[in-house]
Amino acid sequence: MQGFEIRDGALAVENVPLTTIAEQVGTPVFVYSAGAIRARYRALSDALAPVGAAIHYAVKANSNQAVISLLREMGAGADVVSGGELARALAAGVPADRIVFAGVGKTREEMAAALDAGIHLFNIESEPELEMLAEVARSKGATARVGLRVNPDVDAKTHAKITTGKAENKFGVPIERAPVFFARAAELDGVEAVALSAHIGSQLLDLEPYRQTYVRLREMALALRAEGYGLTQLDLGGGLGIGYHGQEGPDPQALAAIIREELGDLGLELAVEPGRWLVGAAGVLLARVILVKQGVTKRHVVVDAAMNDLIRPTLYDGYHRIQPVTGCDRPDAGPADVVGPICESGDYLAKDRPLPAVEAGELLAVRDAGAYGAVMSSTYNARPLAPEVLVDGDRWAVIRPRQPVEALIGLDRVPDWIGR
Ligand code: LLP
Repeated sequence: MQGFEIRDGALAVENVPLTTIAEQVGTPVFVYSAGAIRARYRALSDALAPVGAAIHYAVKANSNQAVISLLREMGAGADVVSGGELARALAAGVPADRIVFAGVGKTREEMAAALDAGIHLFNIESEPELEMLAEVARSKGATARVGLRVNPDVDAKTHAKITTGKAENKFGVPIERAPVFFARAAELDGVEAVALSAHIGSQLLDLEPYRQTYVRLREMALALRAEGYGLTQLDLGGGLGIGYHGQEGPDPQALAAIIREELGDLGLELAVEPGRWLVGAAGVLLARVILVKQGVTKRHVVVDAAMNDLIRPTLYDGYHRIQPVTGCDRPDAGPADVVGPICESGDYLAKDRPLPAVEAGELLAVRDAGAYGAVMSSTYNARPLAPEVLVDGDRWAVIRPRQPVEALIGLDRVPDWIGR
């Protein structure tokens, strides 16, 4: 199930026309297909079942309680990167022993909260972090299970802002240093080093960098075991890309085959941390055309969604397909920029995009906005956060209401020395 299809010339999510949601909830609005998310989860878990790899959903991609709960219901654990995400995963009912905690800068408070919850694994990224975690755990009489995030120095061939596995990135420690870490962890009370982890970047379309990473993980896992360390797990990170141009994208069966070939015989527990692959294609950002402005050299389609709702185009040169919600079969009328109302020239959803002639009041769907859409939105220009809707067959529900503008203003405090 893809979730989105054209019926009678109009775009529908499962059995619900997008026009219905726009009429009842207004625009801009994020709309997700529960069926599409379940189908992706099933495809991935079926592919990974023979290699026995667990799935820890990277909550950062879309952390709405309904989305996390849906994936938890399917059997997913969670990969979190902050105390906030930890709280979100726990609130959505993800069992603590299926939660892993990543990130270069966990605070003592966040470590303490994760220890109190009893999470499965801390992926740690530096010597000072190892010492700090050991200290926090000792102060609680606890022992933290630790995975060492290694940097395999592999080029993930993705956008510079979302690559993480190169030597110059802030992430992980050079893989050659792993024995030093395991030795230090063995000396320290409060930590038990059980895993190696690697995440080389996001939106990978080529699977070869994964193979290179696994080969290095394998060598190091064998070396650590030969030295007598109690390595029991490998955390293989996330990063599996999606076809933003409407193409198929990488096949989870192919990824599973590489995992089996390179790591299948090690007898280690395996886990992956996908975010985008599970939820990205399952969402759209629905916007209404405010007006069409014929500029000196260009057609500007001004819509009511903006860079504060979806920052990927301007931040990563991200490409998102844009299509009219009704009259889907109209011919192109030449290239247009689809822009928002924000006072920045970086405020666009598409540049020089072939688009049919569209009119004020029409609905446009910005595709593949299920991952890194709503979670990265801001209230810049005092634009309230857009609502989120989940469709499941014939049913649909608002899973986050539109933020009232009063809620934005209501957070401010004017000190009493400033005149009213
Ligand atoms: N695990 C770790 C340690 C990560 O840092 C990430 C993503 C993931 C898993 C999940 O990656 P995924 O499977 O979703 O690619 N905002 C960017 C993507 C940033 C990804 C950061 N880390 C974007 O919109 O493209």
